[in-house]
Amino acid sequence: MAEAKQPESVAEVREGLAEAGYLADESSALVSFLAQRLGKPVLVEGPAGVGKTELAKALSRDTGRKLIRLQCYEGLDEAKALYEWNYRKQLLRIQAEATGDHASPGREAEAEASSWESTRGDIFSEDFLFTRPLLEAISATEPVVLLIDEIDKTDQEFEAMLLEVLSDFQISIPELGVIEARTRPLVLLTSNNSRELTEALKRRCLYLWLDYPSVERELEIVRLHTPDLDESLARRMVEVVHMVRQLDLKKPPSIAESIDWARTLLLIGADDIDRETFEQSMSIIVKHRSDIDLVAERVAVKLGDMTPPPAGQTSSG
Ligand SMILES: Nc1ncnc2c1ncn2[C@@H]1O[C@H](COP(=O)(O)OP(=O)(O)O)[C@@H](O)[C@H]1O
Ligand SMILES: [Mg+2]
Repeated sequence: MAEAKQPESVAEVREGLAEAGYLADESSALVSFLAQRLGKPVLVEGPAGVGKTELAKALSRDTGRKLIRLQCYEGLDEAKALYEWNYRKQLLRIQAEATGDHASPGREAEAEASSWESTRGDIFSEDFLFTRPLLEAISATEPVVLLIDEIDKTDQEFEAMLLEVLSDFQISIPELGVIEARTRPLVLLTSNNSRELTEALKRRCLYLWLDYPSVERELEIVRLHTPDLDESLARRMVEVVHMVRQLDLKKPPSIAESIDWARTLLLIGADDIDRETFEQSMSIIVKHRSDIDLVAERVAVKLGDMTPPPAGQTSSG
């Protein structure tokens, strides 16, 4: 197996991720370090929009490994995840052979049989194979990051197949033989927790629970994505987002929504989040009818009661 460069410490991983635009907390950095050192897959669970997918992308950017992504969905099967024979191309090849045969009439049965054997060998070769993400990751010659995104959308049958691939790092194709991994992929599986994953899968993986970040961390992330937004406004925005998250909403705003809101505030030239600004732009962070009503009732009212801080004052000083 070709060896990938290994990180020396958790701090090194954390710095590398930061350079790749991802602000990892202690546990994300630790798990990312261990995944590389132990060669184990990582299962990242947590609500939508907290940076699960981005962690895999950032690891790919940081390590220089190519990112191979398998986006899961209901009904995803082996043909779309592992490989599939290109029947159309195979058929065309067989037809071409058959027409070629007509051109030489009087061929012996024996010769015909051997010609079929060779056609058969041809059409079940790699040229006639659609390589899907799992096979692509296993057969890669350079180390890769394999992102199996939103695994909770598939069924348990698919999980079982995946377990086999992840335990042996090999894929068996009956017509071709066994394809073994030449380098060990760095594997991240993500789940939005819509269903409980099997114990067998969890046992095989390192586990990372990603949750909504603290105000300070979220502020850092928002500032990274919208450096032009005034710092005190950004802080106020993140505080309001945290206030909204306290409510019992169907879909609490995630980091993705905080970033969108920050960009919105920048675009509309807001200099404070007063009640009016909030009501104008809250649909960026709350996206369910019933949530909107609740937030309007609880948060907007509160903002109306607050007096804005004096202009130009930052809360960081
Ligand atoms: N720690 C972080 N550092 C930098 N950006 C982050 C971080 N966490 C989340 N983000 C940003 O938040 C957004 C949502 O992240 P994403 O990975 O798509 O969420 P998930 O996969 O958990 O639904 C992305 O734009 C991502 O860049
Ligand atoms: Mg995602």
